[in-house]
Amino acid sequence: CGITARVGGGDALEELLTGLTNLEYRGYDSAGIALRNGSGLSVHKHEGKIARLESQVREVRPAGEIGIGHTRWSTHGAPTDANAHPHTDCTGSIAVVHNGIIENYDELKADLIDRGHEFESETDTEVIPHLLEEEVAAGHSMQDAFRRVTAQLDGSYAIAAVSAETDAVYATRRGSPLILGLGETTQYLASDVPAFLEFTDQVIYLEDGDVVTLTRDDYEITDTDGYPVTREVRTIDWMPEDAEKGRYDHFMRKEISEQPTSLAQTIEGRIVEESGGEGSARRVCLDEFPPGAFADVSEIQFVACGTSYHAALYGQAMLARRGIGSQTFRAGEYAMLPAPVDEDTLVIGVTQSGETADTLESLRRASEGGAQTLALTNVVGSTAARECDDAMFIRAGPEIGVAATKTFSSQVASLALLAERLCEDRTGESSPYQGELLSGLSALPGLVECVLDDGRANDVIDRYRGMDSYFFIGRGIAHPVALEGALKFKEITYEHAEGFAAGGLKHGPLALVTPRTPVFAVFTGRYTDKMLSNVEEVQARGAPVIGIVSEDNSRVIETVDDAITIPDCHPDIAGLLANVQLQLVAYHVADYLDRPIDKPRNLAKSVTVE
Ligand code: G6P
Repeated sequence: CGITARVGGGDALEELLTGLTNLEYRGYDSAGIALRNGSGLSVHKHEGKIARLESQVREVRPAGEIGIGHTRWSTHGAPTDANAHPHTDCTGSIAVVHNGIIENYDELKADLIDRGHEFESETDTEVIPHLLEEEVAAGHSMQDAFRRVTAQLDGSYAIAAVSAETDAVYATRRGSPLILGLGETTQYLASDVPAFLEFTDQVIYLEDGDVVTLTRDDYEITDTDGYPVTREVRTIDWMPEDAEKGRYDHFMRKEISEQPTSLAQTIEGRIVEESGGEGSARRVCLDEFPPGAFADVSEIQFVACGTSYHAALYGQAMLARRGIGSQTFRAGEYAMLPAPVDEDTLVIGVTQSGETADTLESLRRASEGGAQTLALTNVVGSTAARECDDAMFIRAGPEIGVAATKTFSSQVASLALLAERLCEDRTGESSPYQGELLSGLSALPGLVECVLDDGRANDVIDRYRGMDSYFFIGRGIAHPVALEGALKFKEITYEHAEGFAAGGLKHGPLALVTPRTPVFAVFTGRYTDKMLSNVEEVQARGAPVIGIVSEDNSRVIETVDDAITIPDCHPDIAGLLANVQLQLVAYHVADYLDRPIDKPRNLAKSVTVE
C-alpha cells in the first residue's frame, strides 16, 4: 500500500493526487484522501484505481491545505469502498491511513464495540481512529493521543492521521517505510520518495518507533515516549523525470530501456584501471567495504524474494565458479526456518526496495543468530540498509513498474563485483576470471544498447501467440535467467509460464511438453552440448524451441526453431543480455494482449507484510 500526506500553503488536493499516482505501483485496488478545511474533514474513497478517485474528486474539488491519501493493496477485507482508506472515528473528525497489519486488532475492536463504537469496514485499520477518538475525548492533545494509541498497537505498520481540530499531520512507523519530504512552506510524508520528488529533494527516512508531527513550516520527531529524536536530512539525487513515464507507454518499457544508463551507474567508480609492469589491468574497487572486510567469512547465505531471489541465484552461480560455496533461500521460508549461522557467516539480503517484510525478517533472524548481514539494495535509507551491518547500493534509480527489470540487471552486476571482492578477501588474490569479467562488465551498458536496438524478440514471439504454456530452460547462470524469464512472462501477460533447470526436464516437466508449449532455451556459451541435448528432448515431443543465444553460435542457431540473438560476450554477461531479451519478449506479449503492464492484477511492487 502507499501513504501520502501534505501540510502546507495552498490547496493540498493536486499534490496529494500526484503523490498517490506516483505511489500507485505499491497497490491499486482502492484509493482515498481526507482533506482538512474550515468545515471539518472531507473524505473521499473508492474501490478501483486512482484514476477513478481522481475523476470523482476533481468534480467536487474539496478544499484544504492539509491532507492524507492512500492507495491500497488489500490484506484485511475485500477491495470495496467501505474498506478503502482513510478510515474515520464515530464523529468523522479524525481520519487515518495505514500500511501493514495491526495484529491485535481483533481484541482492540471487540473492546471498542463493547464501549459503543460502531465500525463500517472489515479492516484492521479502523480501530486506530476510534482509539484516537477516545484518547482525545479523555482530554489528551492530538499529539499525545497519537503516541498513546501507537503504544497499544502490535504488528507492523506505517500510519498517518489528521484531525479536524488541529493544523497538523501525525505519523509513525514500525516495520513499514515512511519518509518525510521537507519543503520551505510545505511538508510531505510518503511511503516512498517518488510521491513528492517533484516538490522537494530534502528527505528524512523515519526509523521504527519514530512519531512525527508535521506542520506547515516545521516537523517534530520524537520516540514513542515523547522524547525528541534527531534524524539526518538527506538530499535525494534522483531526478523528477526518473519517476515519470516520458515518451514511453509504460514504466516497464522505460525501465527496460534505461538499463544502459542504470548499469553504467551501478559500475561507476567500482572498476578501476591500474597500470603496472605488464600494461594496464582492471580491478574491483568497492569503497563501502574496508580492505579484508570479508577475510573471515566462512559461509555465505542469500535471502531474497521474487526477482531479487533470481538475482541471488545468479550471484550464487558466479560465486560457485570462483570456488566459493553459498546457499540461496526464499526469504519467506528462511524467516520461518533460518539456516544455522555463526559470526563467520555472511547473510546477504538482496532487495530492490529494502522493505520486503520477509527479507527483513530473515535478515533479523540471521543477525540474532550472530551472522554478519549485508543489504544489497537500491534504496539508500531503506530499512534493510539501516538495519544490516553493511549495505551495498545498486544505484539503478527509481523503479516504478511492478515487474522488476533494471534493478535485476543492477543487482546481478553488483553481485558480480561482490563475488570478485569476496574471492580476493578470502583467498588473498583475485580470481582468474577477474580481468575477463571486468572487461565484460565495462562493456555491458553498450551491449545492452545493442540488444535494445534489436527488434528480434518482437518478431519471433509473434509466431507463438495463443499457446497453452511457455517454458523457459537454462543451466548454470542461465537457470535463474530462465526462472526470471518465466516470472516476468507470467506476471505481466497472465499466460501460463514456468522456468526449469534444463537438466531437470526429464524428471517431470517433460510430461507437459507438447507442440503447443514453446520452450525458450537460454544459452550463455557454457554447457552448450548439454543444452542442445535438452533442446532435442523437447523438439522430439514436438515443442518449438526459441534459443536465446550468441549471434556467433551458428551450431545452436541452426538447431533451434527460432533464435533471438545477443552479442558474443563473457558467459556471466551473456545471462544478463539474454534476460533483457526475455524482458522484451514478456513486454511485447503483454502489450499485444493489452494487459495493465505496470500494475498487474493482484501484485504489488513492495510487499511489506509477511
Ligand atoms: C514483489 C514484487 C517483485 C519483487 C519482490 C521482491 O513480489 O512484485 O517485483 O521482485 O517483491 O522485492 P524487493 O524490493 O525485495 O526486491
